[in-house]
Amino acid sequence: MTDDANALPLDETSRAALAVAGLAYAALDMHDAPAFDGWLQSAYRGFHFDAFTPEQLAQYREGFGPTRAIGVWDSTAAEPENPVATVASWRSPLSLGDARTIEAWAISLVSVAATHRRRGIARALLEGELRAAHAAGIPLAMLTVSEATIYGRWGFGPAAYTADYRIDTRGLRFIAPLPAGRVHGVATAAMRELAPAIMARSHDRVAGEVPFDTQQYDRMFALAARTASHAPKLRAARYDDEHGEPQGFVLYSVAEDAHDFAAHTLTVEHLCAVTDDALVALWHHGLDQDLVSTVVAPMRPVDEPLPWMVSNPRAVQTVARREHLWLRVLDVPAALSARRYAVADSVLLRVADPMGFAEGDWMLVSDADGEATVTAHAGDPDGAAVVDLGVEALGALLLGGTPVEALRVAGRLVEGSPGSADRLAAVLRPTRAPHLSTWF
Ligand SMILES: CC(C)(COP(=O)(O)OP(=O)(O)OC[C@H]1O[C@@H](n2cnc3c(N)ncnc32)[C@H](O)[C@@H]1OP(=O)(O)O)[C@@H](O)C(=O)NCCC(=O)NCCS
Repeated sequence: MTDDANALPLDETSRAALAVAGLAYAALDMHDAPAFDGWLQSAYRGFHFDAFTPEQLAQYREGFGPTRAIGVWDSTAAEPENPVATVASWRSPLSLGDARTIEAWAISLVSVAATHRRRGIARALLEGELRAAHAAGIPLAMLTVSEATIYGRWGFGPAAYTADYRIDTRGLRFIAPLPAGRVHGVATAAMRELAPAIMARSHDRVAGEVPFDTQQYDRMFALAARTASHAPKLRAARYDDEHGEPQGFVLYSVAEDAHDFAAHTLTVEHLCAVTDDALVALWHHGLDQDLVSTVVAPMRPVDEPLPWMVSNPRAVQTVARREHLWLRVLDVPAALSARRYAVADSVLLRVADPMGFAEGDWMLVSDADGEATVTAHAGDPDGAAVVDLGVEALGALLLGGTPVEALRVAGRLVEGSPGSADRLAAVLRPTRAPHLSTWF
């Protein structure tokens, strides 16, 4: 997280829309502890999460970071001090691969109380966030979603995907060459100290990642009050390269089978690799465990190379695949010129955006070094590929993780000239599938 999100003014259009319904729309005073606690409990109630204990609340309050927390209050409710709707937002870098990032407006904890749903409160919150971010010159909004049915209407498209894998390790041989470094079993608390630097380097390799904050690290390593009960189960292993430099780590837990002591299930909770060697070595460590017959690995990249590392690729089953990171373009030239492109070409993108932010004809010209200029365009395409698409399709395509051809076949992108979709796909092609390894 960077900067103070609270510097952004509240959106007056949303405030007025909610006032008509008798509701107060306001930013939380982050120094008002009881108000913060009520806000957080309300947000988590909306997601059916467990209520917080006082100790957990105190930790969240202290580590909440430079976040803007907005609530909607109903003075006629039985507990008028607790909001009936919440949203949190902050400025965050989003990785673009090639050690690049773009600033994005992260939106989180969108919740409306069950007593107040389906009367336009979420719409007011979301539109308020988008207008505020656009007015502040932030080129992109992003979120992870509870349901994939909600955010397309506001111009978000799914841009990075995750897969859950289940690996039957019985009789499975690891055939990838093992690298020269070493894997060490280490204490989770010690690993937590090293993790941020390793994670930051691993995020340089792939588009779609966001920096974790202190609280996320503490929760991930079962060092926060909210996750402390998991600490006895959690194990860490670190990969050091042949020079002794840490290049990755894996966090995992193992559950015993009730009937067969040789059939434990190992869950890969987080695997972070800065190098290909680290990825291979840490997968080998996860799979090469006595007494374990099943390894499950949720929220991994969809192009995970694991099936190619083992003797039986069918032993690596993809049990779920879903969209995860959703992007909403607010400034087309800034959003599209931030990343690198695979080939040199010109593409005219004719973007429709009901909210207006991305609406227009935009010429993307990439060069042989992968750099692009993106400018508003009028007139003849002059040999450029031409595609018509909605802003949600543009968000889906931005990181190169959504197939252009699929959008074309589904009618979400229309070619202005034959072959345009293929040319756009060639330009957008990423080295690795974009991936986000957390929720926010
Ligand atoms: C999802 C949620 C925030 C929606 O709040 P809401 O105030 O009822 O939404 P609104 O009344 O503003 O609805 C806006 C539009 O979204 C649609 N919508 C709302 N919730 C939806 C859902 N769960 N699935 C599909 N569409 C939904 C509405 O039908 C409406 O459609 P329209 O374009 O025809 O106007 C609320 O139901 C909630 O808190 N759910 C549980 C927590 C959650 O999942 N939050 C989302 C986090 S990513």
